[in-house]
Amino acid sequence: MLIIGSGAAGNSLALKLPKNTSVGLISKTELHEGSTYYAQGGISAVLSKIDSIDQHVEDTMESGAGLCKEDIVKSVAKESKDIVDWLLEQGVKFTKNESSSSDKLHLTKEGGHTYPRIVHAADKTGEAIQDSLISKVKENSNIELFTHHVAIDLITTTEVNTNKKKCVGSYVLNKKTNLIDIFQAKFVVLATGGANKVYLYTSNPDTSSGDGIAMAYRAGCDITNMEFMQFHPTCLYHHKAKSFLVSESLRGEGGKLLLPNGEPFMHKYDSRGVLAPRDIVARAIDSEMKIHGFDYVLLDISHKDSSFVKKSFPNIYKKCLEFNIDITKTAIPVVPATHYTCGGINIDINAKTNIKNLYAIGEVAHSGLHGANRMASNSLLECIFFSKKVLEDIKKCEGEKHCSINSDLKYSRNKKISEEVIIKHSWKEIRTLMWNYVGIVRTNERLLKAKIRVSMYKKEIEDCFNKNVISSDLIELRNLIYIAEIIITSALTRKESRGLHYNLDYPGTNEKASDTVININVKNNIKLYQEK
Ligand code: FAD
Ligand code: SIN
Repeated sequence: MLIIGSGAAGNSLALKLPKNTSVGLISKTELHEGSTYYAQGGISAVLSKIDSIDQHVEDTMESGAGLCKEDIVKSVAKESKDIVDWLLEQGVKFTKNESSSSDKLHLTKEGGHTYPRIVHAADKTGEAIQDSLISKVKENSNIELFTHHVAIDLITTTEVNTNKKKCVGSYVLNKKTNLIDIFQAKFVVLATGGANKVYLYTSNPDTSSGDGIAMAYRAGCDITNMEFMQFHPTCLYHHKAKSFLVSESLRGEGGKLLLPNGEPFMHKYDSRGVLAPRDIVARAIDSEMKIHGFDYVLLDISHKDSSFVKKSFPNIYKKCLEFNIDITKTAIPVVPATHYTCGGINIDINAKTNIKNLYAIGEVAHSGLHGANRMASNSLLECIFFSKKVLEDIKKCEGEKHCSINSDLKYSRNKKISEEVIIKHSWKEIRTLMWNYVGIVRTNERLLKAKIRVSMYKKEIEDCFNKNVISSDLIELRNLIYIAEIIITSALTRKESRGLHYNLDYPGTNEKASDTVININVKNNIKLYQEK
C-alpha cells in the first residue's frame, strides 16, 4: 500500500495495517510536518457522564448547517471513546483532570459543543499525537519511509472488462535526487491534508497546498463542497506572527472577545456568544472590523489566574511573549484566517473514492462529517476513524492485500525554468486574489472576476509545468491554481448562503440542502510524463 501523507490520518493507517502488508509512507518534508503537528485545542470525544453520543451528533449537525451525513456523524461519534483509547495505547500523553483523584482526562470546551468534550495535551495536542505516532511508525519494519518526496499525480488505468478507472500508483518527485520516481501499489491512500495555503492568511503550515485534492481531481475523482473553506476566528495579529492560531479552547476556558475599545460584541450575533460555531464568530469579527475600520479585535483571558493561564496554554503564552504580548496581563490582538478545508475528495463510509483502489482520509477527504462548517476538534477524530475504515475495507479485498513499491523507474526533464522568481510571484498573486475576492463574505461579481483571473493563471502555470524541470514549488503552484479554480467554481454553483459560504447576492438559505460536486471527467493519465 502507498500512503501519501504522514499526518494523523496517514500515520494511524500505517500503524493499523497488518504487519505483513508492505507500506510506503511518503511525506513531502519531514515526517512530523503538516497540520496535525500544530493542532492545539484537542480531539472531541464523548467521555463525560453528562454528555451523550446523541448530543455530540446533534452539535455536529447543528454546526454543519444541514449538510452533515447523519449516518457518518453517528458512526464517528460512537467511536470517539475507542479512538481516544487507541491514542492512549500509542502513548499519547493527554492532560489529566487535576481535581479528580482518578485517572480521568481533562475535558475542555470549544465552539458549538454543548458540554466539555475536548481531550487535549495542554495546547499542544497535535505535537503530542505526532510524537507518539511517529515513534511507533519508525519501529515498524513493514513501513518504509520516504521523506522529502512529493507526489505529483496519480497513475490510473482503465480496466478492460469493467471499463472502470483504477489507481495503480503515483508519480513522485524525490527531492533528494530531483528525479521523478514511479511508486506502484495495489492500494493508494491520499492523506495529504487540506488546501488552506490557497489563501494569503492561514493558520496552516506550508504543506497544506491541496496537492491530494488537485491530484484526485485531475485523475477524475468527485470533489465535493469546496466552497466551504473554514476561517478560524482568532489568529494572532502581528506582522511577524504568520497567522499563529490562538485556540478556541482559550474561549472555552473563559476568554472574551472584545473590540479594541474593550466593548464585547458577540452577544449581538448569537446567543452562544464567544462559543458560537466558527462560521458565525469569524463572520461577526469580519463584520465588526469592516464596520469600524479596525485591523483586529481582542481576545482577552488576562482576568483569569495567571498560573492557570500559563499551565493551560503554555504554547500560546510562550509564542505571544515572543511578540511582547503577556497574555496573563493583556489582551491578544486577533484576526480570522483560513484554517480548514471542509470539502474535498468525495469518499464513502469506507473511505473509498470513485476510483477503484484509491482511498482518501483526513482533511483531504469529504466524508460528510463536517457539512457546511466543521465543529471544532472533530477533525483529528475523523482522521483516525477513517484510517480504521480503510483497514476494514481492504481486508474484504482478498488477494489484493500484499503490495509492493517500485521506485526504480526514473523520469525527468532537462529544461530549467528561466526565472524561479516567477513561481513566487504567481503564488503571492493567487493567494492575494483568493483572500480579496473569495473570502469570508462573497459576491457574484467578485467570484466572476476571480474566475477570469484564475483561468488566465492556470494556462500560464500548466504551460510552465509541462515544459520545465519539475520542482516542488512548481508542483504546489500548479495544485494551488487547480484548488482556486475548484473553490471558485463550487462557490459560483451554490446559489444560497449556508455555513461557511456567505454570498451577499444570495443571503438566504435554500430549504433543501444539497452538495456541490465537481468532476473533471478525464481519461487515463498514464502517459503524463516524458520518459528520459
Ligand atoms: P496533515 O496533518 O496536514 O498531514 C498532511 C501530510 O501530507 C503531511 O505529511 C504532508 O507532508 C503530506 N503531503 C501533502 N502533500 C503531499 C504530496 N504532494 N506528496 C507527499 N506528501 C504530501 N483539528 C482538531 O480536530 N483539533 C484541533 O485542536 C485542531 N487544531 C488545529 C490547529 C492548527 C494550527 C491547524 C492548522 C489545524 C488544526 N486542526 C485541529 C485541524 C487538524 O489539525 C487537521 O485537519 C488534521 O490534523 C489533518 O490531518 P491530516 O493527516 O489529514 O493532514
Ligand atoms: C483550536 O484549537 O481552536 C483549533 C481546533 C480545531 O480546529 O478543531
